[in-house]
Amino acid sequence: MQKTDYKKEFIKTFDMFRGRYSKWQVWNDFLYLTAVSMANLFPTAEKQKREAQYYEIWNKYPKELQKLFPSLIDIVTAALTENAEQDFLGTLYHELRLHQQQKGQFFTPYDISRFMVEVQFCGNDMIEMKNKQYISVNDPACGAGSLLIAFANVAKRHGINYQKDVLFVAQDIDQTAALMCYIQLSLLGCPAIIIVGDSLLKPDMHPDNSLWFTPFFQLNRWKFRDIFVDAAASGS
Ligand SMILES: C[S@@+](CC[C@H](N)C(=O)[O-])C[C@H]1O[C@@H](n2cnc3c(N)ncnc32)[C@H](O)[C@@H]1O
Repeated sequence: MQKTDYKKEFIKTFDMFRGRYSKWQVWNDFLYLTAVSMANLFPTAEKQKREAQYYEIWNKYPKELQKLFPSLIDIVTAALTENAEQDFLGTLYHELRLHQQQKGQFFTPYDISRFMVEVQFCGNDMIEMKNKQYISVNDPACGAGSLLIAFANVAKRHGINYQKDVLFVAQDIDQTAALMCYIQLSLLGCPAIIIVGDSLLKPDMHPDNSLWFTPFFQLNRWKFRDIFVDAAASGS
């Protein structure tokens, strides 16, 4: 049976906006609508503000284009379900040449990320980590999440249930990148906090930062509660 080319499918649907909206605008609107539809399944401090922004974006588009957004989400979901070993949105971001908008922002190709994670966690390292209450991993300049996706897959190969026993923390100064990471980690079932903010000047839970909690974080929130205690103690 012939495999579906999800990137081609995505680009075909994405191209239907052409002529009326810029690629950059549609990409960012798609990311925001998708991220809010996931984040707002749970109560958060930013829920109402995000919902208002969601409808502001949604109402910019005529009905025949509105219905394309769920189709795009379906394609990303199917792609990552079929093959979790990829940075699907990060690759598309480059293929659609959207990175040029951000002065040549480059993400690590997924195979390189996987290699980097594998060489760090060879042998018994992961097994030893299994004895901890949970493992945490942080990328303070996460991009679309290539390194963290690789971490999830490597952890799984080493017998660790990353959906339960790993806390992923990711930060990026750029909301576009952070939301790509948020969507992908959400779809892979990673318990994760994605932070939009400058990791040098305002790291972690700094009050000026915007926080995005994945559904699997919310479901396991009790387990990771010490992260909020530590953040309060450090004054961030
Ligand atoms: C080279 S990309 C790497 C992304 C990802 N770690 C990967 O390996 O694919 C660098 C990322 O760092 C982000 N960045 C640059 N300066 C930052 C800062 N001060 N705080 C947070 N993120 C930053 C950029 O927006 C970009 O997404």
